Order: sequence, then structure tokens, then C-alpha cells
Amino acid sequence: MVKACVAGASGGIGQPLSLLLKSSSLIDELSLYDVVNTPGVAADLSHISTPATVTGYLPKDDGMKQAFTGVDIFVIPAGIPRKPGMTRDDLFKINAGIVRDLVKGVAEYAPKAFILVISNPVNSTVPIAAEVLKAAGVFDPKKLFGVTTLDVVRAETFVASIVGEKNPAKTTIPVIGGHSGETIVPLFSQANPSVSIPADKLDALVNRVQFGGDEVVKAKDGAGSATLSMAYAGFRFAEKVIKAVKGEKGIVEPSFVYLPGVSGGEHIAKITGVDFFSVPIELGASGAEQAIDVVSGANEYEKKLLEAAYTGLKGNVAKGIEFAQNPP
Ligand code: NAD
Ligand code: LMR
Repeated sequence: MVKACVAGASGGIGQPLSLLLKSSSLIDELSLYDVVNTPGVAADLSHISTPATVTGYLPKDDGMKQAFTGVDIFVIPAGIPRKPGMTRDDLFKINAGIVRDLVKGVAEYAPKAFILVISNPVNSTVPIAAEVLKAAGVFDPKKLFGVTTLDVVRAETFVASIVGEKNPAKTTIPVIGGHSGETIVPLFSQANPSVSIPADKLDALVNRVQFGGDEVVKAKDGAGSATLSMAYAGFRFAEKVIKAVKGEKGIVEPSFVYLPGVSGGEHIAKITGVDFFSVPIELGASGAEQAIDVVSGANEYEKKLLEAAYTGLKGNVAKGIEFAQNPP
């Protein structure tokens, strides 16, 4: 039996993500939590003729406790999205506290659950979540994931349009680092099957993956950021975690994790100089079972990108840890 909870379920990501989870045969119970509208979203989804039972909760009447108790996997897209001209870091002021308080609830009501953090800035909200779990004495680094799958999805899509591949998902591309601008590093040299990108198109391709989020923010013109592609990506990652926990072998997907807490990760953290970092993760029954070192194999061009990513990430991670340890 798998019970999933979406925290931030009434939002632009939360609703389509909840729809995908409700449609999945892997889910038995779906619990929706938000500060608004969850009774309506839950009533709507509950009419879909799939097995998962759906319940919706608001903070009142001990709603968090009811929504979170017994949950196996949380997906958290709660928090405000960007508007044109904003960076993800501009969301920190509001979203840091939202993620902290939700993860406090997870630590209290479902301390053994897998936690998938979507809320931005991921580079800081995941370290905040780790600190909250540590303070509660329930931190298992194998179970905490920053969702960077949208960067992978974008890399697959954008490279396919350049090399003329009709099915973008056929190519595996490690996208590593963090989830904002220059901290996002696609390693096209390690694509599988290999891809041949014309030299004059590489800079623009890398830039498009790094700033794909801005492309959507601009196009939405004040109405928010990526929601539908993010729901797809969040579901894709959640589905992989659940399948791995149920025993399926050989599932690998990049995710932003606390490297020293994952087998193989300490070695990678020594190379990068950052403890929180996204690399391809082999998923298994206990969650993040193995961090795969694709950093060592980066070519000279990619190593330069990585240097910029390390610098940005160090600041973002430190900011999250400071917020959690010494609340303003
Ligand atoms: P949205 O404003 O449409 O939805 C956010 C939802 O969170 C709202 O329904 C709101 O009521 C809810 N919420 C706010 N405070 C809450 C709390 N304390 N508890 C529970 N729910 C709460 O925003 P969105 O477009 O769905 O984006 C959500 C977040 O996801 C943003 O921070 C955005 O930047 C981020 N995001 C991340 C990625 C990624 O790749 N990781 C991609 C896209 C968006
Ligand atoms: C994205 O990559 O689309 C998200 O992180 C949302 C954003 O602010 O760009």
C-alpha cells in the first residue's frame, strides 16, 4: 500500500501533479494538503475511476496531522512562484519558512517518509529540509530529494530538437549541480546514446537548459512559472522512487541530495566541494542507494560550467543552513 501526499496541492503544479498521482496504479491513497481549496480539488479528483482514495485537508482541525499521518511519500510544491525579473533566490524569503514548517510536520507525523522538494529555491530549500529533519533526529539522507527532473526533461527535449530525434525521452542526459541558472550543468558529453551537437549550437543549448525556467516565466508574463511540465517531471520522479521502493532494479535519475549521506556521494562531494548536489542517483528499496560519479568524466568545457555551479551552490546551500539554524 502506498500513501502519497502533495503539500501545496491546490496550486499550479499541485493540481496537475495530483491528477497524475490519482491516475497512477502505483498509488493507493492520495492525501492533499494546502492552505486553500483542497476540499474542492479532492472532491473533483475523487470522481476519477482509479483505485486511489483521495482526501483533502486544510490547516484547520489539525489538518496537517490528518494529511501527513501514514504518508509514505511527500511531494512538496508549496510556495510562491517567480514573476518576470525575479530570480529563484528572490523566493527564499517566503518559501524558506513554508518548506521549514511543512518538513517539521513531516518529521512529526511521518518521519520515515520519502520527501521530494519542488519548492524554490531548491538549492536552499533542500538544505533547510535536511536541517529540520536533523534537528528532529529523523534525517535519513537517502529519503530526501530535491526535484531537478525538469532540467533533465528540458535537456532531453531541447537536444532532441537539435539532433532530430523524434522521441526525446530515448536519450539519457545527466544534468547535475543545482536547480537555478548557472548551477544547472547538462553533461551532453555523457549522453546515452551519444549525441553529436554542432559546436556552434552548444553554448545556446546549454544556456537554454540552464535558463529554461526563465523562458516559461517570460512567456507566462506574470501568471507564474512552469506548472504543467513540472507536474510531469515531479510525477516522473515520484513514480521512479515508488517503483524502486517496490523492488524494481536499475532505476537511475538525477536528484539534488545530501551527498555525504548517500553511498558513493562522499567521494563526489570531495570533488565538488559542495555537500548538496544533484548527480544521477540509483534508486532502491531504501531510496537513494548510490550516487554515480559523472563529475570526474566531465570534459574541459563542462568543467568550466561546473566551476561556476560550485560557486553559486555554496552560497545557496549556506543560506539555507543558516536560515534553519538561526531563524531570522
Ligand atoms: P502556485 O502559487 O500556483 O501554488 C503554490 C501552492 O502552495 C498554492 O496553492 C498555495 O496555497 C500553496 N501554499 C502556500 N503556502 C503553503 C503552506 N504553508 N502549506 C501548504 N501549501 C501552501 O505555485 P506553483 O506554480 O505551483 O509553484 C510552486 C513552487 O514550485 C514555486 O516555489 C516554484 O518556484 C516551484 N517550482 C519548482 C520547480 C522545480 O523544478 N523544482 C519547477 C517549477 C516550479
Ligand atoms: C523552473 O525551472 O521552471 C522552475 O524552477 C520555476 C522557475 O522559477 O523557473
